[in-house]
Amino acid sequence: MPQYFGQLPINEQPWQTLSAIQGISQQEHSVRFDCGKSCLQINVLASNLIRVRLAPTGEFTPRRSWAVTNDAAWQIPSFEVKETETTVEIQTEQLRVVVQRKNGQIACYDSANRPFAIDADPGMGWRLGTTAAWKKIAADEHFYGFGERTGLLDKRSEVKTNWTTDALDYGSLTDEMYQAIPFFIALRPEVGYGIFFNTTFWSRFDIGVTQPGIWQMETHTGELDYYIIYGPTPAEILATYTQLTGRMPLPPKWALGYHQCRWSYESETVVRELAKEFRDRRIPCDVIHLDIDYMRGYRVFTWSPQRFPHPGKLIQQLAEDGFKTVTIIDPGVKYEPEADYSVFDQGIAHDYFIRKAQGQLFHGYVWPDKAVFPDFMRADVRQWWGELHKSLTDIGIAGIWNDMNEPAINDRPFGDEGDKIWFPLDAPQGGAREETEDVALDERVTHAEAHNLYGSMMARSCAEGLEKLRPNERSFVLTRSGYAGIQRWSSVWMGDNHSLWDHLEMSLPMLCNMGLSGVAFVGCDVGGFASNATAELFARWMQVGMLYPLMRAHSALTTAQHEPWSFGDRTEKICREYINLRYQLLPYIYTLFWEAATTGAPILRPLLYDFPNDPLTYTLHDQVLLGSSLMAAPIYRPGVEHRAVYLPEGTWYDWWSGESYTGPTHILAHAPLEKMPLYVKAGAIIPMQPVMQYVDERSLDPLTLRVWQGDGEFTLYEDDGHTFAYKDNAYTTTKFRINTEENQATFEINQREGSWLLPSREVIVELVGVGEQRLNDNGTARQLVFNL
Ligand code: GLC
Repeated sequence: MPQYFGQLPINEQPWQTLSAIQGISQQEHSVRFDCGKSCLQINVLASNLIRVRLAPTGEFTPRRSWAVTNDAAWQIPSFEVKETETTVEIQTEQLRVVVQRKNGQIACYDSANRPFAIDADPGMGWRLGTTAAWKKIAADEHFYGFGERTGLLDKRSEVKTNWTTDALDYGSLTDEMYQAIPFFIALRPEVGYGIFFNTTFWSRFDIGVTQPGIWQMETHTGELDYYIIYGPTPAEILATYTQLTGRMPLPPKWALGYHQCRWSYESETVVRELAKEFRDRRIPCDVIHLDIDYMRGYRVFTWSPQRFPHPGKLIQQLAEDGFKTVTIIDPGVKYEPEADYSVFDQGIAHDYFIRKAQGQLFHGYVWPDKAVFPDFMRADVRQWWGELHKSLTDIGIAGIWNDMNEPAINDRPFGDEGDKIWFPLDAPQGGAREETEDVALDERVTHAEAHNLYGSMMARSCAEGLEKLRPNERSFVLTRSGYAGIQRWSSVWMGDNHSLWDHLEMSLPMLCNMGLSGVAFVGCDVGGFASNATAELFARWMQVGMLYPLMRAHSALTTAQHEPWSFGDRTEKICREYINLRYQLLPYIYTLFWEAATTGAPILRPLLYDFPNDPLTYTLHDQVLLGSSLMAAPIYRPGVEHRAVYLPEGTWYDWWSGESYTGPTHILAHAPLEKMPLYVKAGAIIPMQPVMQYVDERSLDPLTLRVWQGDGEFTLYEDDGHTFAYKDNAYTTTKFRINTEENQATFEINQREGSWLLPSREVIVELVGVGEQRLNDNGTARQLVFNL
């Protein structure tokens, strides 16, 4: 049913637009344009970053920037304002913004005068509490990011809504997902820019669907506010975008190992048997996740006395065998008056749960049946919830899996099948009862503004709580829902996928688009969550899963068992081999995590990230790079043993055979079930370790540097892997370089830098296809020569 306002449905009301600029005033880092009753403001925050704001009423309301750093945090770059008869131009070192006097429309140009982010008619507009902007799409432009998205890589000709939803049974056509990240990257050869739509309200991008050649963004709030980030490369865009929205902290190194999960390993006995299988079968595993059945009747922060009578003892024994335990926590608190359920009682006593505008408690239906929802917008609620984790950390829980935090409110496993419940958009949220550093008293909002933030704020409460409870130990935090900037608080998985070949295929572009949205620590449920995998699907998924920044296998209640040994010997062997390879690559992968934490670079990335001027990479969804050296071209179809592989410019080596190819070219790879095609770039240096059954099993000795001929360098990052000492510079980096000439290759190890002390160890330098040399690594500079 369309909503009617006066005679016309809302989407047929005319847009109001800016009238001619009447006055211009310049403040420290902004230029303000007065256009009759309304006003446009452009803030220059860096030479490649501008913020555009439009206030239809002429008055900017104080903005709550939930996900972005304050404008004041940016060092004001130098810029010039130039006026012509028809335009006002803002020029920074990297870009020029041209504003039309007659209608306030804006256009950007790079230093070679290439246009980007050009307003299309009507430029910017507003109607009935909605604001929007329109811009031109260049003929050869492609679109990425948009947070969590199904389908393939490029989102041109698609409509993408930003509204967090429990996207159960999603498929390639699903629009609203668990995550809502209103950010994208537009790319064409030589030119790339990012748009961050600074709104937590419902918003939507229409990439050339309603009007071919024009993209539009629209949000249900009265002011328009967005950032334009010039690249031109995706790497530069993401560096700035993550400076704006924050970067991930380093997780504990064990979180990079293999995680095993199921809904549910339902008792202490089952969990012990599971752990034993891993060790007996020599399949590495670091983490066991406990799903909702560990609780007493799905009451968060409780344990089932029947199934898990001695959780502390269990967790300690698992720890002795090298396993970390992660428990699930849902936001829905069982509605249970007078039952001595302390989480409910405390929440009621302090009025921590969300109420409707009229004052009654809001409730939905989730695992514990009728449930109420903490208001994570409030700092006091976040603190309370964070402290509740003490009962878990006290017995050794090492990480928390935050689920159902879109929030899901319509699961009635045991209740009636009534009408769907909606979260009332006018429910008041936020507004701490006490003013604190990060929440001021006046920040009371409605659910319409807070909805997309629910998961992020829950994850924040969890991450901050865990850091207080374990002040010198990094914790693992996982969340299903989140908003832009979620990377500051948590890793993310892509919710409830299915054991289907197309979900395996889709997992790569989904994770790549998350990486291109600033969220690097991401994964999909390996093997597929719902439905039942076949042996072949499971084997292929384990190969692909080895590439996921978060490698967790998970499966749903009533589905077939999905452990590495569930499908017979052949599949088990494949699982072991690829999990082993993951563990061997950990020194490399951990360094990629450090890069993500310091620069915002995705860990898993599409080829366009490293080859942004090669249009053949623009729609290549089924090949990925793990860091910039290793490229995978997985098989994701049943019965398929061959596939086409695109090798971009440069020399590439087959990981398995050492065969070399000169790109750009297409090759046909042969990939029987035991093999996932893998390639390395010439000049690649990949640090590797021996297979371990878990990350902390023993120290990294020997370190093997697999090196391929060519010219290249790699900086290895190392620290203790589990404390926060790295923040006080307790880490080391070592730069390696390979240089190849006609008859010899020279491998240089620079002097180790940094203050973390490493024990001396053996280093094996293997120049692939040529030979290896061994040395005792004590941190001093070395040079090795290989005759070719
Ligand atoms: C949700 C989660 C899933 C979990 C299940 C039970 O469906 O997405 O991962 O296993 O709830 O907690």
